[in-house]
Amino acid sequence: ARVAVFVSGEGSNLQALLDRHKLMPSWPCTIALVVSDKPWCRGVRRAREAGVPVFAAEPRAFASKQVYEQAILAKLHEQDVDGIALAGYMRIVSSVLLQAYRGRIINLHPSLLPAFPGKSAVADALSAGAMETGVTVHYIDEGVDTGPVIAQWRIPIPDGIDIGTLTERVHHIEHLLYPVVVGEVAENWRPSRSRQP
Ligand code: GRF
Repeated sequence: ARVAVFVSGEGSNLQALLDRHKLMPSWPCTIALVVSDKPWCRGVRRAREAGVPVFAAEPRAFASKQVYEQAILAKLHEQDVDGIALAGYMRIVSSVLLQAYRGRIINLHPSLLPAFPGKSAVADALSAGAMETGVTVHYIDEGVDTGPVIAQWRIPIPDGIDIGTLTERVHHIEHLLYPVVVGEVAENWRPSRSRQP
């Protein structure tokens, strides 16, 4: 399947997907496009370094969010994209993309959803005194960090662990889990398509 990855920041999960493509010939995805609302973020640089086409534009340069998403949609079509993997994309995806890619947009979130949705999930789990947190991959819908769960991985929160260490552990699990789940889900996006060279 031809997959678009959406990023707004560091892009370490994008990197995990790019690495998987490179290292595992049987992985059924090609990263066909990277989309970003932050043209200068590290994720965009990683995409360029890997030679992946990029569409990076700040939404405020467009008349509305709809127009912004229509511009993204045109690029997705141009690159013949089958499905979308959000990887640290810090915006709500709205109806233009949701309708065009219904059931084919997934997200990665650093908690055991429905616990701790939102932007500071790791810190929230820690400050709530939770005994465990984790990583969730889910289909997206109109809400924030809602939509059917595809896969989850538990991570214990030992007494006294600091936020930096816990965040590192979460990222480590994300980098392992996301490429596997994206590969599995993408088989359904276009099962007959063979891998591009
Ligand atoms: C990850 O923790 C992901 O769960 C969340 O945003 C973070 C992105 O990290 N949605 P990176 O940009 O892939 O390094």
